[in-house]
Amino acid sequence: MVECARIAVLVSGGGTNLQALIDAQGRGEIPHGEIVLVVSNRRGAYALERASEAGIESAVVSRADYADAQAQEEALIALLEEREIDLIVLAGFLLILSERFTKRFEGRIINIHPSLIPSFCGEGMYGLKVHEAALAAGVKLTGATVHFVNEIPDGGEIIAQKAVEVREGDTPEVLQQRVMEEAEWILLPRAVEAVASSLA
Ligand code: GAR
Repeated sequence: MVECARIAVLVSGGGTNLQALIDAQGRGEIPHGEIVLVVSNRRGAYALERASEAGIESAVVSRADYADAQAQEEALIALLEEREIDLIVLAGFLLILSERFTKRFEGRIINIHPSLIPSFCGEGMYGLKVHEAALAAGVKLTGATVHFVNEIPDGGEIIAQKAVEVREGDTPEVLQQRVMEEAEWILLPRAVEAVASSLA
């Protein structure tokens, strides 16, 4: 039981989903949680700038600083435990977490994926590749999914989904932007509040 969940957001890139969370928090839409830490596995990730502008502590846990992937993951676990994190949000975080990690924080890790799972997901399906695959398949609807994270990439229990129309002439970039605007940036803050409130 926690009164206000201490949230860590894990990122690898631009961090527009992180920004959506920061903005929702600023509007008072995540009353049961507080983003207290942003962790990137990439040193130059623009998401780190967003954290700093919002006055949120950030850290880099880069593979280059550790002997192997396991040591990197152990450092990440140690940091999350030290900061007493209750809820971990993967927002464009491109490292696959081991079962050791997912078991350690069972029911307390969520991920946003830019398709309607179980379509266009799993290992190697991230970012623009997801939208390329959706366009190649010719689907007329795609969207975004927030789900709990377990040891199977994109295989954990689904929390929320939102559909987005695919339009004639869409490029992967255009579709990615529409999925972000119409689904991801709306869905993720709502799901974070729902899970945070369930921990309270
Ligand atoms: C988002 O579209 C997110 O759904 C996706 O990466 C992008 C990160 O953008 N995640 C995956 O594909 C995970 N499999 P952002 O850094 O601007 O939030």
